[in-house]
Order: sequence, then structure tokens, then C-alpha cells
Amino acid sequence: MAESEADLIELFNNADQGQVFQFLDELDSDARRALLAQAATIDLAEVAALVETHVRGDHAGGVDLEGLEPAPYIALPEQGGDPDQWAAAWDAGSAAIQAGRVAAFTVAGGQGTRLGYDGPKGTYPVTPVSGKTLFQVFAEKIARSSERFGVTIPWYILTSEINNDATMAAFEAADYFGLPKDSVHFIVQGLVPAVDGEGKILLAEKGKIAMTPDGHGGSLRALVRSGAVDSMRAQGVDIVSYFQVDNPIVQCIDPAFIGFHVLGKSELSSKMVPKAYALEKVGHFCRQDGKALVVEYSDMPESMQEATAEDGGLRFNAGSVAIHVFDRDFIERVGGDGAGTKLPFHRANKKIPHVDASGQTVTPDEPNGIKFEMFVFDALPLAENPVIIEAARGDDFSPVKNAEGVDSPESCKADQLRMFARWLKAAGVAVETDATGLPAQTFEISPRFAADEADFVAQWASLDPKPAILEGLIIGE
Ligand code: UTP
Repeated sequence: MAESEADLIELFNNADQGQVFQFLDELDSDARRALLAQAATIDLAEVAALVETHVRGDHAGGVDLEGLEPAPYIALPEQGGDPDQWAAAWDAGSAAIQAGRVAAFTVAGGQGTRLGYDGPKGTYPVTPVSGKTLFQVFAEKIARSSERFGVTIPWYILTSEINNDATMAAFEAADYFGLPKDSVHFIVQGLVPAVDGEGKILLAEKGKIAMTPDGHGGSLRALVRSGAVDSMRAQGVDIVSYFQVDNPIVQCIDPAFIGFHVLGKSELSSKMVPKAYALEKVGHFCRQDGKALVVEYSDMPESMQEATAEDGGLRFNAGSVAIHVFDRDFIERVGGDGAGTKLPFHRANKKIPHVDASGQTVTPDEPNGIKFEMFVFDALPLAENPVIIEAARGDDFSPVKNAEGVDSPESCKADQLRMFARWLKAAGVAVETDATGLPAQTFEISPRFAADEADFVAQWASLDPKPAILEGLIIGE
């Protein structure tokens, strides 16, 4: 860390990044101080290593496909899995939740550029009738799971410096959606500077460095650096249920999943869903040299993505849906500053608005710069005893990524409705649906009422009187 302004500037000059201060003399004293403070947060050694590897070096490296095979996974009972094994997992998971060993962890530090919504993605309204936000849906599910198991489940939320204040303000304004305030913890993830094709750090403005969050993989070091891992240890939490902010149908706290993790003595467990079609743009759970790993669709040749197995199904069929359970000590090992294993960074070519050397603001039409991100699934090969279980897509995965079309607010609303209709049918209620399972009425099941299908069936049985399923109904409120 630099002792003074002059030291800091010298450090940047020595690192060949002195352009960051090119307009320093044009800034007023507040802006000058802000730029210097921002610069002081940058790990120049890390940037130099990233530039060396990913900008100057042979970043094309790609993925070694030698000996790659599909990863084994535990099938759902309805897909041939052993119902007794699932029942035992449910019991083990419930016991762990009841014992206060489990925390929920939402990664919400991304920029959500594809959705094009101005605000933290968690404040985006998603439910079909009441328009509850993503954060409210998760808060109510966590509240319901806490009630169901007689504990207060702590909730950790990863933000970035770009959206942390707005995220916290949304929770304050909503009075933490009824959760105990001290059970909700915000963790600010790190930022990494964006660079140009020569590896030079870009300026977003004359007095501001262009920086982007360090990826969902950065969540692990953020949990360690923020002290969250220590606070978990102090509370007796050693199991972390990880999910993304964009997926409102995820089972935030899934007893069976947690049970498989516990019984398997796993450091990192994951859910897979069978791919919807051969070239679906998801990561694939694979195995190589005895280690589990996720290979992105972009790193796997189409012929492999389309290859079939002996039974006629897809050989690489296990799609990753970014739902995991972590062991706390594993997070500490991978995310800590110690000698343990670390996640690699990846390079992404992006359109990065910036101020050029002549002081002009440039809004590029084509990718002009590079951002660096870590991916959480890169932790998989580092984990002991990884467990992968099958999940039903309709009960766990319908992300809001794009403004329209696939994985959009509209497709997610339809998936929520299909899930609600299925839950009602499981409870013995006749619901009119089309061939895709979409009900004729738009209604909602409150996440505060039921956290999953089994929970709903039990809750519905004790509901008296039972409402008629009419347009605009919200069950459980
Ligand atoms: P995405 O890959 O969808 O990225 O993140 P994004 O930044 O949210 O959206 P686009 O690509 O700009 O449209 C998947 C999940 O990982 C979180 C996101 O908030 C989302 O829950 N994430 C991503 C982080 O928490 N930090 C990051 O640096 C990146």
C-alpha cells in the first residue's frame, strides 16, 4: 500500500499504468481524492499477472478435452434414482437445517446488462400477480424455511460497489421483507480494472477508473475477506446454500440437496438438469482425471455436445444451473489469501465506454477492452468428494437474463405459473392447463406459504377454507 499520493502515482508509473492519472491536474480536489482512493484499491500485481497471461500471453489456451467423460450424478427418484436414498438425504438435510448449520447465499453482484434494467437485479419484479421482486421472493422462501425448521436461517448477499448502496436501500425500504435485520448480511465483492488490448487500465471518466466485478467466482474470496466466513463459524454455520439472484424458482434451502452434501462429506455439491436440447448454452458437468469439472458449451465442440450414449440419450447431458452447496472450510481454503488453491481468472472481450488519451469519451460499437472474471464452478475440481444431484428444471431453474425471449421476465412468469399449477395438482386440486402445463388462470403461491412442492402439499392440506383457483388469486396471503 502506498504511503502517499506521490508513492501511489509512482507505483502506477512503475507498473506502466501511469495513464490512469493523465487528467489528474484537471480534477477538482474531491474528484482527485476519489480517483486516488479508487486507484489505491487496485492490486497492481494481480493486474500485471492478468495482463501477462490473458492479454500478452496465450490466452486462447482453451480446455483440454483429453479423457473428458460425463460426470456421474444421483438421479431423481422419478428418473430411476433410489427413493430410499432421497428420503434419507431429506432427513439428513432437515437435521442439518434444524441444527442451524445452514446459511443461504445469493450472488447479486453482477451488472445484469442483458436485462437492461436500471437498478440491482434483485429489485426487479418477477411474480405473475403481485409483482414481488426477486429479493422479496428469496426473503419469503428463507422465512418459510426458517419457520418450517424452527430456526433463523442467516442470509448472505453478494453485492458489488456498483450496486451495494441501492441494494441495501431496497432492503431498508422494505423493512428487510420481515426478516430479522441482523440475519441479513451484505458482502461487497471485489472489482478488477478493465484494460485495453495493450493491457493498459482504462478510464471510465477522467477521474474514474473503469472497473468491473470480479465474477461470481469472486464470491468466495469476498466471503473470506469480509469476515463472513468467521461470522458463520461463530454461529455454527458450516453449510452454504448458493444460488443466483436471477432465478426466482430456485429452492433456496433444499433439504434433500443439503442432505446429499452432508452424507457425501462433500466440499462442493451441485445440481444438474438434463439439457433441454443438445446445443443448449449451458455448462456441462464432466469428469477428467478423476476430478469433476464444468465445461462451458463454448469450450465443447458441437459434436461432443450432440453425441449420444448407448441408451440413445445425450452423452453429455448434465447441464449446470449454478446451484451449489459449499462447505464453509472449503470456501476459506479456496477464497483465502493463504497458500491454498485459487480460482483462475477468465478473459471476456467487452464494449467498454472510456475516455481516450485525448480526453474524448468513446462509446464503442465493437468490443474494445477486456474484463476479467472468476467463475464459481472452477472450484469444482478443487473440491473433495463433489456430489452432483439431478434437479427438475421446472422446480429449480428459470432465470431472468434477457429482456425478451428465452430466459426473460415473460418466460419466467410462465414457468412460475406451471410450477404453481403442478403443486396444486400434486395436492389433488383440479387445475385446467394447456399442453405445456400453463394454467388458464394467472395466480400465485406465496413463497411465504410454501418453499417447495412437498411443503405446499402439507400446507394446502391444513388450509381451511381452501380458496377457489381464480384469476389474480394469491394463495397463502
Ligand atoms: P451473469 O453471468 O448472468 O452476469 O451472472 P450478470 O452480470 O448478472 O448479467 P449480464 O451478463 O451483465 O447480463 C450470474 C449470477 O452471478 C452473479 C449475478 O448477479 C448473477 O446472480 N454475479 C455475476 C456476481 O455476483 N458477480 C459478478 O461479478 C458476476
